Amino acid sequence: MSEKRAPLFGFAAIFAVLAVLWIWYPFGTPLLFQSTIFPLTDNAERTQSVYAMVYWITLAIFLGVEGLLIFALFRFRARGDETALPKQTHGHTALEVFWTLATVVLVLVMYVPSFQAIRFHQGPPPTPNPLVIDVTGRQWFWEFYYPEQDLTTANEIVVPQGRTVLFHVTASDVIHSFWFPRLGGKRDAVPGRTQPLWFTPTELGNFHGQCTEYCGSSHALMKMEIVVKPQAEFDTWVAQQKAPGDPAAMAGFGVFAASGCIACHMTMQNDKSVLHMNGPNLMKVATRAKIAAGILDNTPANLKLWISNPQHVKPDAKMNVPAMQCTGPGTPDACCRDVQIGNCLPDATVDQLVAYLSMLK
Ligand code: CUA
Repeated sequence: MSEKRAPLFGFAAIFAVLAVLWIWYPFGTPLLFQSTIFPLTDNAERTQSVYAMVYWITLAIFLGVEGLLIFALFRFRARGDETALPKQTHGHTALEVFWTLATVVLVLVMYVPSFQAIRFHQGPPPTPNPLVIDVTGRQWFWEFYYPEQDLTTANEIVVPQGRTVLFHVTASDVIHSFWFPRLGGKRDAVPGRTQPLWFTPTELGNFHGQCTEYCGSSHALMKMEIVVKPQAEFDTWVAQQKAPGDPAAMAGFGVFAASGCIACHMTMQNDKSVLHMNGPNLMKVATRAKIAAGILDNTPANLKLWISNPQHVKPDAKMNVPAMQCTGPGTPDACCRDVQIGNCLPDATVDQLVAYLSMLK
């Protein structure tokens, strides 16, 4: 390829990528878990309507400007051995008035719906009797309290299909931000303040959420899930969460207590009286799909990995297992030998804890 032609191929490649994006945007499928442009609730749709309007307007401007530019490049290019400058023009009042007014009109066209959308989002929920959930961001997990049901859970929110959910979002340590990209706009979780966010989930399924304000070393590992169920299944879930645990599980409670886990985690109650313990409430942890704030599937192998060495899974996690001094994978037994601290949880104890937690449903 000649040196002259190389930049042309670069431009052609850029245009090809842009063209694919243009085609993909309106007609594509939601390939990404956490995408804002495939909204699933009233709240997210409203944001998307503004976004789409701005997208199409700016696309039209882009095509118009680039089209005129390309037209001018070809129409007024130097031909043959032409060397004289073309006729020079300075100032054109009509044109200047036009593009000043056109810009003002365009800004207004985009401003009014944006302002209306902000008012819509900041206002009260559109339906009476929303399901209220109090959200507390913590380093690095999410605590959820359902006042109507007097129910505490962590990292996984279960809601009924079709009922507006009103979140009261706060934090207990540093600033976090609560965000389910396909369901609604972000709301900062600020210590000492409570901010509302509502949306009405209409589609069944599991949707991913993410802390979106840098909050320390494991910020990127502060995830959550929302599970939208039909009303009857939601009622069953609430009843299960409120039910006393399996008496057979009690056998494992002694190990849980003796290992120090009860200093931060509650496994016997999940009502208001046990809100804001240091760690997530674990009373019904076996009913959750994920552990460690949405980063591991809730399987016995992953529970063992997590309890054995939390620091390996989530740097700076507050879970103070002695094995935290280990930096690599492996059982605490092997880890203890490596770092010679000698007082971490023996492998057999971890197995007993995993068995106990797996029964909490
Ligand atoms: Cu919590 Cu970032």
